[in-house]
Formats: sequence, C-alpha cells, structure tokens
Amino acid sequence: MIQSSLSIIKPETKLHVGIIMDGNGRWAVSRGLPRIAGHRAGADAVRRTVEACPSLGIGTLTLYAFSSDNWRRPQTEVNALMRLLRIFMRKELERSLRNGVRISVIGRRDRLSSPVLNAIETAEKTTINGQTLHLRIAIDYSSRYAILRAAERLRSQEYINRSITEEDFSRLIADSDRTNAPEVDLVIRTSGEQRLSDFLLWENAYAEFFFTKRMWPDFDANELALAVNDFLSRDRRFGALAQAVAG
Ligand code: FPP
Repeated sequence: MIQSSLSIIKPETKLHVGIIMDGNGRWAVSRGLPRIAGHRAGADAVRRTVEACPSLGIGTLTLYAFSSDNWRRPQTEVNALMRLLRIFMRKELERSLRNGVRISVIGRRDRLSSPVLNAIETAEKTTINGQTLHLRIAIDYSSRYAILRAAERLRSQEYINRSITEEDFSRLIADSDRTNAPEVDLVIRTSGEQRLSDFLLWENAYAEFFFTKRMWPDFDANELALAVNDFLSRDRRFGALAQAVAG
C-alpha cells in the first residue's frame, strides 16, 4: 500500500516510468558511510518504489541500476553492486509473485557473471505471468549499444530492400531488450543531476522529465506521487496543437 499523503489522480492508461537512480554515493559519504552503504539504502528505496507503482497507475517501471559505463568504477564497488542486484533478484521473488510483479532485465548479458545471470534468468522465468507491474531493471545497459545492435540487424535479409518504419525499429530494440514495453511517459532523475546518461534514448522520444534534488536512498512513495502528479498536469501535444491531440 502506498504511504503517500498526496491525493493521487490516476492516469487513464498505465504509465511507463523510467528512473535514473542517482546519489547513492553522496548520500553515504554525507553520513560518513562507505559508498556501498548508499547502494544498500538504494535497494530499500527500490522496494518502496516498486510497491508504490500500482496505486499510482504505473504499469511499467524501468530502473537504471548499472550502466555499461559503471564498469569503470573500482572493482570493489562493481562487485558490491552486482552482489546487491543478485540478492535483490533472489529475495524479491516471493514478494513479486504475490504482488503480480513481472521482473525483466535489459542490457548486455555477455559480461555478467554466472551467479548474476542465473539469478536474472530465475527471476524472469518465475515472474513471467505477473500482470500488475512490469519491473524492468537495466543492468550493463547502454542505449547507444542497444540502438547499434538494432541497426545492425537491419542488414539482414528480412529488412533489406524495403523501407524501415519506426515500428520496425522499436521492435528490433524490444527484441534486443528481450522484453516489450510501451514508450516511456516519464523519466525521473534524483540527486539534482539533469542528464539522460545513455538511458532509453529511442524510447524516451516523447518522455516528460522530472528532476528532484532528493538523493535516491531518500526517494519514497510521496516523491513518486509528486512526480506522477506533476506529469499529469503537463500538456503533452506530441508536436501537434492541443486541440488536435484532444481529437
Ligand atoms: C547511482 O548513484 C547509482 C548507481 C550507479 C547504482 C544504482 C543501484 C541501486 C539503487 C541499488 C540496487 C538496485 C536494485 C535494482 C536492487 P551513484 O553511486 O553514482 O551516486 P553518486 O553520484 O552520489 O556518487
């Protein structure tokens, strides 16, 4: 159940929200704690956020957990993050099944360790029928890489000698993600940073943005409700005039 004090207007169709979870390190350092303590607190914020999604009308949640650039961090931090992700997949299985949460992972798999891969595959298989929320976790993810892989596939027989539509390309990206998801409606980034960092570049074509100064470990249902309410108050015209979109 959502612990929000805000009144929520539910959207008419289920939303796809993407979150760039930033500020774990700063949150920890400002408390005199090691950075990994921030990531651990970040995992608790993930649980709170996932739980709040259905009552806010969110049907798909994509979380940026580990970018392909994050391999450049110290090995101890990379190991700790991978361990946290593995534990999260294992521990959340029962709760996800109970709450109808389907877990998918997007991103490269060829550089992940076998224990992490096993945890991902088990989580995906076990929760495949979840209907309430599609939780997509981006691990070793780079949107440019996903776009390049999709573009490469255009050289195959199926696509040669015909023009390529946006739908074709979206399908190719979905294939490389191994999951289908609607376009992103809202991107949230925490910690005051305001950039996209190679996150869902194709899928965010018409996304709205919500930036908050709050560090990710402090993110909660209230802040998510604030972001969704702010999103619902915006006039999304998709390049047309307001009247044309309204029909
Ligand atoms: C960015 O903060 C955060 C990450 C690189 C990792 C995100 C991981 C988690 C929230 C924990 C586990 C996730 C799941 C899905 C269970 P930062 O370290 O770059 O913070 P900083 O900018 O303050 O240094």
